[in-house]
This record gives sequence, C-alpha cells and structure tokens, in this order.
Amino acid sequence: MLPSLAFTLLRRLSDGEVHSGEALAATIGMTRSRVSQLLKQAEASGLTLERVRGRGYRLVDSTPFLDRDAIVRELGPRGPKVTVEIADAIDSTSSELLRRAPRVHRHLLAAEWQTAGRGRRGRAWTAVVGGSLTFSLGWRFERGAGFLAGLSLAVGVAIARALEAAGCPGVLLKWPNDLVHRNRKLGGILIEISGDALGPSLAVIGVGLNVRLPEIARRAIAQPVTDCAAIAGAIDRNLLLARIAAELATTLEGYEREGFGAFRAEWQRRHALQGQPVDVTLPDGSVVHGSVVGADADGALVVDRDGRRMRLVGGEVSLRRAKR
Ligand code: BTN
Repeated sequence: MLPSLAFTLLRRLSDGEVHSGEALAATIGMTRSRVSQLLKQAEASGLTLERVRGRGYRLVDSTPFLDRDAIVRELGPRGPKVTVEIADAIDSTSSELLRRAPRVHRHLLAAEWQTAGRGRRGRAWTAVVGGSLTFSLGWRFERGAGFLAGLSLAVGVAIARALEAAGCPGVLLKWPNDLVHRNRKLGGILIEISGDALGPSLAVIGVGLNVRLPEIARRAIAQPVTDCAAIAGAIDRNLLLARIAAELATTLEGYEREGFGAFRAEWQRRHALQGQPVDVTLPDGSVVHGSVVGADADGALVVDRDGRRMRLVGGEVSLRRAKR
C-alpha cells in the first residue's frame, strides 16, 4: 500500500516539472532519503520517474491528479445534486460505499488507487495511479432489484455520452457492462444492489476506465485493452469525471421515472455486437452460438438461435463475437 506521504509527493510531481529532492523533502517535512524511498515505492506501483542529474525528479507521463475542487468547479453551481469525495488509496470504492450503505445516496467516491479493485465475475480490476478513473456512485431507488435489471446498460449509455462530450468519441457498449473501442476494452461497470426485493434499494455503481495505461499495465491484463489516450489523446480526468457525474445523475433520474425503456434504443445503437454472430458462454461453461437481436425492456440480451429466441440475463453469462 502506498503511504499517503507518497501521494503528497506524487501530487507535487503531477505537474510534469522537475522537482529537487530538497524541495520534495520540504513538502513532506522528511529527509531526502525518505523521499527517495517513497518514490521507489511509487515506481514499484507502476509509475515512471526520471532522475535528472543534479536537478531532481520528474514524473514521466504526468497527469493532473484527481482534485475535488476542480471537479466541483467543473460541475458548476447549477450542476447535479451529487457529493464528490476523492481518496488517495482505498481497497475498493464500491466496497467502501457498501460498508457505508445506506447513507451514500448521490455520493460519488473516486480513488487515485485501489488496492483490491473488483471486476465482474469475481475478477480483480487493474488500474494505475494517475492513469485510470476508478469510482463508485451510490443511488437510492424507491423500487427493488427487478426494476434495476437494465441499470448497468443505462449506465453504459451515460458513460459513452460523457466520454463523447469530453472528447473521446466512438466508444461502444458490449452487453452487459463493457465499454469498448475497436474490440478492445476501455472500461467496465459493476453494479451491486442491496435492500428490499420490492424496494427501496441502494445501487452501488462502480466504474473503471482506462485513461492512460502504461504498456506494462496493459500487458498485465489478460484481454485486449485500450485507453482514452489511444482513442483521443490526452484527456483531463477531472473534467471527464465531472462530465460522467453529471450524465449519470441525469440518467439515473430518468431511469427512476421511466426504467430501461427510455434508454433501450440508444443502447442498441451503441451496442458493439448488435446484429452480430456471437458465442455465448453459459454459467455451466457450455457455449452456444447465435446472433444478437438486441436488448429487451428489462435489459436482457435477446439472441436468435436458428429462429428461436433466447433471453440472456447478466450475472455469469459472457458474450464474444463469433469467429466464424
Ligand atoms: C468489469 O469487470 O468490467 C467491471 C469493473 C468495475 C471496476 C470498478 S473500479 C471502481 C469500482 N470499485 C471496484 O472495486 N470495482 C469498480
């Protein structure tokens, strides 16, 4: 776990300038050798530092760190009713909101670093300090889990719209919860719901996005991935997070009123596998072949298998473009 002093140093270095060992030591009130130790730990967590002889340290591929004030400023005084909190390091933003449930309605928690980020189907979620967006938003619904079956699809629509507005166009959705660009994964959504079956319920909406992943991090991920930098060049993560928060608030308010039906047509337009032949892996491991018809009113995926319609619900099912 990177100590919080390391984050203080990294915030200072995130301007991309060279900072002397003395200046950094003064920033944290410690010795230069402690600075060097902390920066070695930061390098071990995936950051690249340049040591400029006689001058000090520079963060390679620097990017502004997450900054609550910048995000709140970007949201503006008439922005959505969402509270924003930034943590340097945490196990998982979703685990933290679940621990605080139910008092997290309209609360967004983003972390610069997750030590135990969780993906779908029990997988770990890999992210890098300064190069990812990892956050969760708590949202209370009057209705229960049945009504929320299409929520992760609607959230995908909101994020694709926000990415477009922040200058990262062409992002598609892959049922049930992936954000993709040219068949490579850009991000994912993990929704966890607690509460009464008939409502009220609390959804913790966790989102992970690759903004600028170093090569070493890409190689550590077991599937083809991409990042916003490859699609559209440098993106300001604070601006992007503000756009996403605003778009999500509007979407979730709309979902509360109208359910998934209000987002279905747009979701289908943005679906990477719409009309495509696919292989579906079922919970028992068997694979069936079909072609994607679309999403139904509850967010289930409808696949045509030789003229017979099959309805797939999220959970343990996975979908891949068929090679044939
Ligand atoms: C997926 O498997 O595609 C879903 C990934 C969701 C990752 C995000 S990162 C923020 C939030 N906290 C977590 O531990 N997971 C989600």
